[in-house]
Amino acid sequence: MSGTEPARPTLLLIHGFPQDHTVWNAQIDALADVADVLAPDLRGFGAGAEVPEVMTMEAYADDLAALLDERGRERVVLCGLSMGGYVALAFAERHRDRCAGLVLSNTRSIPDGEEGRAGRYATAERALHQGVPVIARGMLPGLFSTTSKRIQPERVSATEQMMARQHPRAVAAAARGMAVREDRTPLLHRLALPALVITGSEDTMMPEGTSQAMHAALAGSRLVVIPNTAHLPNVEAPDRFNDALRAFLCTLAH
Ligand code: MLT
Repeated sequence: MSGTEPARPTLLLIHGFPQDHTVWNAQIDALADVADVLAPDLRGFGAGAEVPEVMTMEAYADDLAALLDERGRERVVLCGLSMGGYVALAFAERHRDRCAGLVLSNTRSIPDGEEGRAGRYATAERALHQGVPVIARGMLPGLFSTTSKRIQPERVSATEQMMARQHPRAVAAAARGMAVREDRTPLLHRLALPALVITGSEDTMMPEGTSQAMHAALAGSRLVVIPNTAHLPNVEAPDRFNDALRAFLCTLAH
């Protein structure tokens, strides 16, 4: 595989819940000059492959490792957004030697509590019985900052539509998988990888404290808080987000 490794780093963008790769539309081309960008759909999302009842973060991570094998990519810089961050951490745990760097955006290393887990199972049932548009509508208020809602309503509605068209079985399987995810805080302490933690100043779904905790646990990481953004800074303020990613990628030896 090393014969096909590109000179630039490979950046693997991992979308959140319930999304597909198009949440990265403002990154895919914009970062192509500094990285070989891969932005796959997690299993069941986007084009919609079959999924089992529960898609664990580990199963998504292993899918991604198989994809990298297919593409002849040995090592990657992982960038996970929210649920994508849970997957990135599972990948880093299981495929440590394939990681050249780690970007955790609007995510957390801690698992759900009892109430959170019950909420996941309720989300899975709602997706199956009431439809994914109900889930998308319910999540929307927390995804965008007040400023983003005011000045870019078209991005808000495009994101709602993208989430609403995801397959109910994929959404249910992901919700159940998130419910059983492990505490990956101990992993952060031992990772020893170049790392960047990004969040939005108004993210109420992943309050800034969760990012600060990950930043503190990851030796030598950088923390970037993007003002006037909430849970999707890559969509809300793509230039700021891309600048942070670009600066990080440029610091990596390759
Ligand atoms: C996401 O954006 O991926 C979700 O908010 C993650 C979660 O529900 O924990």
